[in-house]
Amino acid sequence: MTTLCVNVDHVATLRQARGGQEPDPVLAAMQCEIAGSTGVTVHLREDRRHIQDRDVRLIREVVRGHLNLEMAATEKMVDFALDVKPEIATLVPEKREELTTEGGLDVVGGGARLTKAVERLKAGGITVSLFIDADADQIRGSKKSGATEVELHTGPYAEARTTTDIERQLEILRRESKLVRELGLVLNAGHGLNYLNVQAVAAIEGMRELNVGHSIISRAVFSGLPAAVEEMNRLIREANTHLQT
Ligand code: PXP
Repeated sequence: MTTLCVNVDHVATLRQARGGQEPDPVLAAMQCEIAGSTGVTVHLREDRRHIQDRDVRLIREVVRGHLNLEMAATEKMVDFALDVKPEIATLVPEKREELTTEGGLDVVGGGARLTKAVERLKAGGITVSLFIDADADQIRGSKKSGATEVELHTGPYAEARTTTDIERQLEILRRESKLVRELGLVLNAGHGLNYLNVQAVAAIEGMRELNVGHSIISRAVFSGLPAAVEEMNRLIREANTHLQT
């Protein structure tokens, strides 16, 4: 059975736009779990553009399923993870100027720094997953690094526009997923998955978990908007009625 782990980063993006306290990703994390998410994913970026240290620590406290912390493989981030102890640490590449994670981690060229990060996290009792492109060398490299899980980057599939290109990207994901399974690694996937494209990836044999963020938070804006407008209108109407009496 493929499960869903919701990434709540973009609740924090909205909060950071005003620099205040709302909306709180901690509350979002709790709601996602109540609604059926098997856990919660957050990406603590070096530039702290959305999720803050405080969010990760509080989400750690409230999460009942697993906490998946996406992070760069730096010494500082590994120290933070060892302190907070998420169930899973997903190592991702990070570039300051990028809008979102672009491309998978270069495990093959990652060398000693990556292996050391994997070793330290594992020694601290944290399961390590590597966010990689659906590429045989990267998958084999992941196995060599000591990680026990991978998350295949579904961005190229999500961005494909023609039917031929979508099918081609799906075929790559299916083929490389098979290699992941054959090497005994746990198979996860994510990035760019939405209400239109998720099912084909969820149906890949052996797919354990999908990390989905932006599309769910975007949908929540619209599914919650009518009730939010009605509530504000009710307050305004009530205030007007009081003035008239
Ligand atoms: N997986 C990884 C490794 C990511 O970096 C992201 C984006 O933070 C996601 C999954 C979720 O992607 P999206 O927000 O497009 O669903």
